[in-house]
Amino acid sequence: MEGLLVVLGATGTQGGSVIDHVLQQSPKAQIRGVTRNTSSTTSLALRERGIEMVQADMEDCASLTMALKVSPSVSRHDVLQVAEHITQGASFIFAATDYWEPFINYLQSGRSDKWQQAEADEVRCGKNIVDAACQTLDTLEHFVFSSLPSPDAISNHTFSNLYHFEGKVKIVRYIGEKGLQCPTGKRVCDNDFGEEFAESKQLRDVTTVLWCGCYMENFQRWDLNSYLVPKDNGEGKFVMSTRAHPSTPMEFLACGKDVGLFVTAVLQRQPQGVDGTPVIASPASMTLEDACAALGQLTGRNILYQQSAVEEMAKGSPIGAVFERMYEFYNTYGWSGGVKAVGREDIGLSGKTSTFESFVGEHNWDGFFVKTDD
Ligand SMILES: NC(=O)c1ccc[n+]([C@@H]2O[C@H](COP(=O)([O-])OP(=O)(O)OC[C@H]3O[C@@H](n4cnc5c(N)ncnc54)[C@H](OP(=O)(O)O)[C@@H]3O)[C@@H](O)[C@H]2O)c1
Repeated sequence: MEGLLVVLGATGTQGGSVIDHVLQQSPKAQIRGVTRNTSSTTSLALRERGIEMVQADMEDCASLTMALKVSPSVSRHDVLQVAEHITQGASFIFAATDYWEPFINYLQSGRSDKWQQAEADEVRCGKNIVDAACQTLDTLEHFVFSSLPSPDAISNHTFSNLYHFEGKVKIVRYIGEKGLQCPTGKRVCDNDFGEEFAESKQLRDVTTVLWCGCYMENFQRWDLNSYLVPKDNGEGKFVMSTRAHPSTPMEFLACGKDVGLFVTAVLQRQPQGVDGTPVIASPASMTLEDACAALGQLTGRNILYQQSAVEEMAKGSPIGAVFERMYEFYNTYGWSGGVKAVGREDIGLSGKTSTFESFVGEHNWDGFFVKTDD
């Protein structure tokens, strides 16, 4: 890969995996990681591995533009002079926005409109990323944006309140609808008569949309989203319970390990365009019933899957009601709602990605099979 790759969300699960795989494939790749805190342990560890870590905030478009365009050794004052030799624009960008940090902040401050507010924050950050990416269109070859399908559009507005999906969809629409177009300023000689045309590019044309499957890591999460952690029922069995029907297939992904594998494969292809087919980052579909059976078999536990009763998920969790709707959406329309998308075979990853079984085998599950009241 020739040129600078800028990773937004470099210290996170998705961005971290992208960096791991790009470095694996091209140890000398030029990678710049964006973070709000260049002194965090994760940032310092990335720097140790040769990643150029720069400070920028997705809430601040100017800081993102600097991160995408300018060498961090250049001061803001110098940038105002913008001399060609001090700028180095991104050739490739990977960006993942974060719904959950704002959501948790709004939850903790007692906001009743936490879902909507977190979506608004995510959309604002995403639009800043898009606007900043447009500032570097002269060098940009490929922009990979991590989004999700739109339950609202797929269901003709029946499933309209899945805020943690729809913000990402709005950002993708912003890439497309605004038709953000930037002349590169270069003149190209393009026809038999030697006539010159001003070259222009649209961000939408150099974009590929990625849809990340549900993280397999969620099977080990004891936080807001602990639905996929089997609970001891006090009778020698563990039970996982969600509103998903036992036969509903879902897309899962060992995100920290594998999303970078998908992104590096995507970066080796031509951009699909914002209206082109999204790429689903998932090794294969799987039902939660099958996941419980595999987890039980591999860890020597008796794990049952049960579909929860209507409105059961809402009890005891601030995300339960919305997550119940999400599983109902999967029951009704399937994970991607029948939208045409590209899978791992299409991008040459058959046999290379983790299976759920290999994910289980690589993790220690002891701490996740305790009684809930221990
Ligand atoms: N869990 C799932 O099953 C699943 C499935 C599909 C999609 N997703 C989506 O994945 C997204 C999260 O991605 P992730 O798991 O990679 O994140 P993560 O591990 O939680 O890390 C969040 C990353 O975002 C960066 N970040 C957050 N706010 C920022 C800001 N204002 N400016 C600059 N950087 C900022 C953080 O950087 P610093 O803290 O270093 O600044 C960090 O690198 C969520 O939106 C979620 O909806 C999750």
